[in-house]
Amino acid sequence: MADPAIFLTGTGTGVGKTVVGCALAAAWAARGLAPRVLKPAESGCERRGGVLHPTDAWALREAAGDARPLDEVCPYRYVLPLAPAHAAEQEGGPPDLDRLLGMIAALRGRPGPLLVEGAGGLLVPLSPDVQMIDLARRAGLRLVIAAPLGLGTLNHTQLTVRAARAESIPVAGIVLSDLTGEDTPAARRNPGAVRELCGAPLLGVLPYLPGIGEEIRRGAGPGTPAAARLAGAAGRLDLGMLGNT
Ligand SMILES: Nc1ncnc2c1ncn2[C@@H]1O[C@H](COP(=O)(O)OP(=O)(O)O)[C@@H](O)[C@H]1O
Ligand SMILES: [Mg+2]
Repeated sequence: MADPAIFLTGTGTGVGKTVVGCALAAAWAARGLAPRVLKPAESGCERRGGVLHPTDAWALREAAGDARPLDEVCPYRYVLPLAPAHAAEQEGGPPDLDRLLGMIAALRGRPGPLLVEGAGGLLVPLSPDVQMIDLARRAGLRLVIAAPLGLGTLNHTQLTVRAARAESIPVAGIVLSDLTGEDTPAARRNPGAVRELCGAPLLGVLPYLPGIGEEIRRGAGPGTPAAARLAGAAGRLDLGMLGNT
């Protein structure tokens, strides 16, 4: 099987994509696989000394131990917390699909896993006539769908899988992330329900990791306790479904 090359999407914003992405990247890095990451567009960036700091892209790059400059890891950055297409209306040009496809193709040409994190969910506008799903489809990457473990996930997860299917995008798997650690009826029933309803593999449940958001924002580079925590959590997932790891 080839190296993993995945487009990490989610059922929305704040559903656990970046934490799942950091966990995958940390697990691959711990195995010496030299993962590369791309966050094509990030909005809601902080301005730091005249430079826009993309929190997700930075966290992913650290977890992967990917030394490429941030401009290559996150080529389109915006301050406004809006869909990239809409932030771009007030902050310069929108992401250029062909440029992004070229970047992804170049990254795929190198050995090692590739992880591309979308912004929001699949139907988020990237530019006036392009949605995130178009980028995933044109890039030819398989999807990993991150979704919360708890109540409300069954509808959103199925909608996301159906949207992918409608565009013939293969779904490598779904990861349910435990955002709260609460032992609820939904948290117990949903993994089985996702298997029954979605017709796509469930890679597993990423366990609740208290404080992980802050840890990845501080940097979970290879060798750090945070990286070990993330890689340990990723050990609960069936990573073999993603490729040669
Ligand atoms: N497995 C987890 N355990 C604990 N908290 C989590 C977990 N996954 C996500 N979170 C929390 O949810 C927040 C949003 O997750 P994030 O991965 O940034 O979502 P997205 O990338 O989809 O916007 C994180 O900053 C973190 O605080
Ligand atoms: Mg994110």
